[in-house]
Amino acid sequence: MAHHDDIDDVSGVSTTGHEWDGIKELNNPLPKWWLYVFYASIVWAIGYYVVYPSWPLMTDYTRGVLGYSQRAAALANYQAGVDARAVEGKGLADASLEQIQANPDELAFAMANGKAAFGDNCAPCHGSGATGSVGYPNLQDDDWLWGGSLEAIQETITVGIRSTSEDTRDTQMPAFGRDELLDKTQIRQVADYVRSLSGLEVPADVDLKAGAQVFADNCASCHGENGEGMQELGAPRLNDAIWLYGSDEASVIETVTNARKGVMPTWGGKLDPVTIKSLAIYVHNLGGGQ
Ligand code: HEC
Ligand code: HEC
Repeated sequence: MAHHDDIDDVSGVSTTGHEWDGIKELNNPLPKWWLYVFYASIVWAIGYYVVYPSWPLMTDYTRGVLGYSQRAAALANYQAGVDARAVEGKGLADASLEQIQANPDELAFAMANGKAAFGDNCAPCHGSGATGSVGYPNLQDDDWLWGGSLEAIQETITVGIRSTSEDTRDTQMPAFGRDELLDKTQIRQVADYVRSLSGLEVPADVDLKAGAQVFADNCASCHGENGEGMQELGAPRLNDAIWLYGSDEASVIETVTNARKGVMPTWGGKLDPVTIKSLAIYVHNLGGGQ
């Protein structure tokens, strides 16, 4: 409370009457601008409380008359992006792979879309640069297990390889050792014969002629007479320098003894058709498309 009777001699302002060691507290009013800002913030807080979600309750919160939600706003934003992509993607949905390949705009969109989808879904196995690793084929080169045309790649991605899809690409190389179709000597002979097809050096004590016979009898039906491979069966070409499971003698013997049975999941139900098309275009354009 102001004591109007008690005026400070120096400033001429009334004091509150409080005094410490002879120093008196002046009773200056709050500055007007401060008061207005203060009142304005009270009004604003009430308005905010009415309009926006603000007040925490036991299990919920007041939602405000606007019903605004950052989560809903973010989702709407996201949906707008998806819709915009769907409009762009619509061209892709209706076009054939060849048409997309021939249309620069659609091609650019498919490449960007395919690259993103590759990073999300394929890179864990094929590597972020699609260069693969042991057991996971390099998709950059022009060596194809199941075919490198646009359609073949699209089909591989859609149905998978030895996957759970009914339509999966699926050829099982026999486990010649485990299933006792060949003995150890024959396996070593044929393994080194196969290695010799791509110019690898083979140990002097191996009978390559016998190996060639084992190959003709057991392997040529899938891998071709000269080891040129057969894409309808996913049987790799064996007379080139590209090896999925390793080219040293021990690795090839292991392949022939137990077979490998590489598995690639089916993407048909998991990715939409436009994404699969984009992936086929992207993989095809990595360099080795046929
Ligand atoms: C779980 C691991 C895995 C994932 C994930 C995966 N792949 Fe594969 N992929 C494989 C394996 C293993 C093979 C080789 C199978 C074989 O031996 O025939 C393969 C083969 C392929 C082939 C055939 C290559 C050829 O030479 O014919 C293509 C094309 C391919 N993958 C594309 C993709 C794309 C695109 C994706 C992402 C949508 C993908 N893969 C995701 C494991 C995977
Ligand atoms: C029924 C068809 C079939 C027959 C028969 C067959 N293969 Fe295969 N072979 C395949 C398939 C399919 C693959 C791919 C394996 C995988 O990824 O599971 C393969 C893979 C291989 C590989 C691995 C190539 C690499 O790049 O690493 C070698 C080596 C091989 N076969 C050798 C042989 C030999 C030797 C025989 C005969 C003794 C034989 N195969 C018989 C289908 C066959």
